[in-house]
Amino acid sequence: MEFFVDENDRVDGVDKVTGKAKYFAEYQLPGLTYGVLVTSTITKGKITTIDTKLAKSAPGVLDVLSHLNKPVAAGYEQAGGSPMKIFYTDQVFFNGQPIALVVADTFERATYAATLVKVNYEKEAFNTDFENSIKDAKAKKLQGQPPYIRGVADAYKTAEVKIEQIYTMPVETHNPMELHGIIADWCANDQVTVYAKTQGVKAAQAAIANVFKIPQENIQVNSEFVGGGFGMALKTWPIEIATVMASKHLKKPVKLVVTRDQMFTMVGNRPAAYQKVGLGATKDGKITGITHTAFGQTATYENFTEGVVNMTKFMYDSENVNTNYYVVPLDMSVPIWMRGPGEATGAFALESAIDEMAHALDMDPLDFRMKNDPEIDPAKKIPFSSKNIKEAYKLGSAKIGWSNRKNKPGSIVDGAWQIGYGVSIGVFNASRGRASVKGILKADGTLVLQSATSDIGPGTGTGMGLIASRLLNIPTNKITFELGDSSLPPAPSQGGSATLSTVGTAVNDVCVSLKSTIAELAANSNMDATSNFVDVLKKNNLPMIEVTKQSQSNQQGKDYSMYSFSIHFVQVKVHQLTGVVKVSKIVSVGDSGKIVSPKTARSQMIGGAVGGIGMALTEEALLDNRYGRYVNNNFADYHVPVHADVPEIDVIFIDKPDFIVNPMGAKGMGEIALIGFAGAVANAVFNATGKRIRSLPITPDKVL
Ligand code: MOS
Repeated sequence: MEFFVDENDRVDGVDKVTGKAKYFAEYQLPGLTYGVLVTSTITKGKITTIDTKLAKSAPGVLDVLSHLNKPVAAGYEQAGGSPMKIFYTDQVFFNGQPIALVVADTFERATYAATLVKVNYEKEAFNTDFENSIKDAKAKKLQGQPPYIRGVADAYKTAEVKIEQIYTMPVETHNPMELHGIIADWCANDQVTVYAKTQGVKAAQAAIANVFKIPQENIQVNSEFVGGGFGMALKTWPIEIATVMASKHLKKPVKLVVTRDQMFTMVGNRPAAYQKVGLGATKDGKITGITHTAFGQTATYENFTEGVVNMTKFMYDSENVNTNYYVVPLDMSVPIWMRGPGEATGAFALESAIDEMAHALDMDPLDFRMKNDPEIDPAKKIPFSSKNIKEAYKLGSAKIGWSNRKNKPGSIVDGAWQIGYGVSIGVFNASRGRASVKGILKADGTLVLQSATSDIGPGTGTGMGLIASRLLNIPTNKITFELGDSSLPPAPSQGGSATLSTVGTAVNDVCVSLKSTIAELAANSNMDATSNFVDVLKKNNLPMIEVTKQSQSNQQGKDYSMYSFSIHFVQVKVHQLTGVVKVSKIVSVGDSGKIVSPKTARSQMIGGAVGGIGMALTEEALLDNRYGRYVNNNFADYHVPVHADVPEIDVIFIDKPDFIVNPMGAKGMGEIALIGFAGAVANAVFNATGKRIRSLPITPDKVL
């Protein structure tokens, strides 16, 4: 057998670019029906009447579900909880809330009938104004996380040099290419099959079981391909539950795919944030105090919190650090994790402030960072499992041409453009969880690996195949990794940059076990220890051997602090007359352990940088506070970066294994690819122009 490991192959690549990959909405079930949502046109209040008579008599309509016919499950009997109990109450919590589901024999008929549903409301006063609600959240001590204090609180105030600034960010939406939705098929004996867009087939299975009070084994969740998630598909949303309800009620398969504008209100977003950072340092550039106070938006009907102030506690070596994080409940739909959740928000503020302090000290911001780079985790007083930031600074700065940068802003001009350089750091948790993997090694020379994990795009099957290929000396094209199926051995949802580490460890353990079984079989049949497994299996008359292993989690912060790091370097050009900012060069350095799959790892970093350009320059979901509605809930008005916005992206990996984190020595990188990026752009804009933009996105009106 020819040994063949193609590190630049991507196992799902051909399927994806040829259209063979099947996404949830493409499954054609016999008798499939179509759901279309009716949404609230008020922001807060009560539904007084829903008139469905016309809609129900429209051609092809099977029924209209709402809180009036309440086809709900036992799980809805208790009030409260998360997610919101759809069709359970007459309360309206946000504008665009799903209040009815029209099901018809075609999508077009359901869409038409949905326009015939007449709803009357009793309106109540509402509040969607984030910045105006901050004082109130602080007064009411609505903590999103317990306050943290190390050393002296607000030590920055008495420092030799201090800065104190406010940084703001709007709501951002995930907006993957694939719209959210589900196909639900509730069959006899409460057997349910769903095709879903989800980052967690086991989590979706558990969520449905919990609402409908049926055993998890009754529910089969399929989600082989996912067209991007970024965090929005980490939760089984009320609209998915509504679709399962409809299928149960109608005894037919029902499909629901939300519209692009509904993507802004029904499947979460990155919450708006208001952050104040106080930074104190000695004149020679040693940080003496950091205070980080953050306010993040949440909903009134469900709470959402994230780790906005986490990295402030340990990224820099300061004796005195205190953080506070408050949540601001608004009459808006609930946020959810979005790529680099928490940290991406916090990093923008902290890394902007670090740059501001370097400027105040007249220091190169890289030198300032290096001077304050801690040897051990200053919060937990334990070592980092690995951290190669100084090396990352050196490699990245050489690549971007940092030596061309002038510390004095506005120094480099090229015709109408001012040129500047910026840097920022990113960090995210790199501990691992628990997952099970089954391995089936066959006498035909193939290996099948199975786990109920998901692949939202990073190329999970490719990474897992490479881990197994290297351990078992099997060509990657003889290895299949099956995922996206809830009947496979359990694994956590794909999120938090943990899949390669968590599931990969179980793949590793499976392969180690298979290898030793083959060695034993070889010894028992007097074969050479180096014999090929195909020969060993044949000699033993075994068509296959199989094993299932569960990896164990390693606890973050027990003996080691385990994090992935990134350093983003950008060069920007700012047009002096129009204020347009163009990111003209990017070097992203990943310090994320050993790189298992170079191609997909590089793609992660590129994707993060592209998302980072959006966060920095264009993305902003705008809500009209008079009506509580988004005004730019479409791709014409909510701007994500296009090719013309994205320069060549250089990706550098430190590529040093961290065997404390897992046996592959690999750490995740999905989140660090984005975290910090917007700060690097803001810092570069300052370096180019002398204008410090503390409010994302950095649009021309702010630059001029
Ligand atoms: Mo990620 S925000 O854990 O999909």
